[in-house]
Amino acid sequence: MKKEFRKKVISDRKKQNPELINLNSELIFQNLLKLDEIEKANVIMAYLDFNSEVKTDNIINYFLSQNKKIVVPLSIVDEKKLLLSEIKDIKNEVYIGTYGIREPKPKFIRPVDAKNIDIVIVPAVAYDTNGYRLGYGGGYYDRFLESLRDDCITIGIAFEIQVFDKVPKEDHDAKLNYIITEKRIIKI
Ligand SMILES: Nc1ncnc2c1ncn2[C@@H]1O[C@H](COP(=O)(O)OP(=O)(O)OP(=O)(O)O)[C@@H](O)[C@H]1O
Ligand SMILES: [Mg+2]
Repeated sequence: MKKEFRKKVISDRKKQNPELINLNSELIFQNLLKLDEIEKANVIMAYLDFNSEVKTDNIINYFLSQNKKIVVPLSIVDEKKLLLSEIKDIKNEVYIGTYGIREPKPKFIRPVDAKNIDIVIVPAVAYDTNGYRLGYGGGYYDRFLESLRDDCITIGIAFEIQVFDKVPKEDHDAKLNYIITEKRIIKI
């Protein structure tokens, strides 16, 4: 059930042309900035996009320019866990790492405790309007989201074509606080 659904959405996401991906990523960024919580946050985690996901470089660079502490994840394959690292400069500190996803080079790894994070910008293959998400199938984010502070705010960003009334869900699947697309802000 999850597997076929994932395949279909990833393939639809890939069919979008690069200009549309850039434009909609920018609109999603603008919608994200409408949340009051963003301004108050000191430590924000964001993913480094790959594979036609919503682009995050502009978001990260903007927050860096606002002197916020930005954290990005690295995949630890053996434990199916995310390692969190502060990033200060995408261009200089990042290379193509595990699963072909950009991550900090070893010499730029600056570990951060999950409990320090105020806001997480979460990637996904698909979301539903109840805040549930479907990832790539590793369970990385499901495990990670359990380790956050109770008052940490989780924001899923995605293109509208990735949002459904319902996505296949199991007991361990996390629920987020917001889903943001180029068209709307869904508060759960
Ligand atoms: N919190 C958890 N604790 C232990 N195992 C988990 C947890 N979350 C997920 N898993 C296991 O990980 C596997 C993948 O989970 P799932 O299909 O939900 O991945 P996903 O949400 O698509 O991936 P990701 O979280 O990396 O984006 C499942 O076999 C599941 O049992
Ligand atoms: Mg899951």
